[in-house]
Amino acid sequence: MRMNILQSAIVPITRKVVPRPVRLWAKDVRNARRVRRNPGRILLVNEILPAYAALGGRILWVGCRRYTKEYGSLLARNGGECWTTDIEISHAKWGEAGRHFTWDLTSIDRLIAAGSFDSVLCNGVFGFGVDTRPSQLAALKAMGSILKPGGRLLLGWNTDRVEDPLTFDFVQSAFVADAPTARGSRMAVPEAAYVYDFLRRKE
Ligand SMILES: C[S@@+](CC[C@H](N)C(=O)[O-])C[C@H]1O[C@@H](n2cnc3c(N)ncnc32)[C@H](O)[C@@H]1O
Repeated sequence: MRMNILQSAIVPITRKVVPRPVRLWAKDVRNARRVRRNPGRILLVNEILPAYAALGGRILWVGCRRYTKEYGSLLARNGGECWTTDIEISHAKWGEAGRHFTWDLTSIDRLIAAGSFDSVLCNGVFGFGVDTRPSQLAALKAMGSILKPGGRLLLGWNTDRVEDPLTFDFVQSAFVADAPTARGSRMAVPEAAYVYDFLRRKE
């Protein structure tokens, strides 16, 4: 975005006057506001998360940010138990108190016993940290391991950042299509360049 003359004068002054942590906090608050208005996010919060909440069980939410903080109580509102994980120590404050792991998703199966979770919800992590195909495959294998047989996996991913994860042979061999809402096993949000895929671990 181009700055006008006034803005270009104010920005360097702001940098000198406002301490860096405050500037970073303000940037994060602005980002959270922007994400909450995204059509893909609105679909997630209004339809997808309530569908997983209705299924209940033990749910792992992957990737914690300011705007995801309320998801734990949303997911647990029908008696489910929500856990969270993120690789960044500083993101634990946005995870579930007493039920949060600081860990790398690609090796989460080294931390969590096989077959521990009914659902794993992995949204916006591929392309935002888990970027390479080998690391995405490792993450898929690790998530498959910690899911119970028949357990559910949500994969939310940006079409402009990530190659279709369903093209992995592993996904085809280890998972089947799922439909936790009435809208089928894939929801595309073209205006947000976003896709939600719904999978179930084979029994
Ligand atoms: C763009 S944010 C997405 C957050 C959230 N899941 C959402 O729905 O928007 C990506 C998050 O994934 C986390 N992350 C990146 N790589 C990771 C990894 N290897 N293991 C666990 N978390 C990771 C980042 O720290 C960040 O909080």
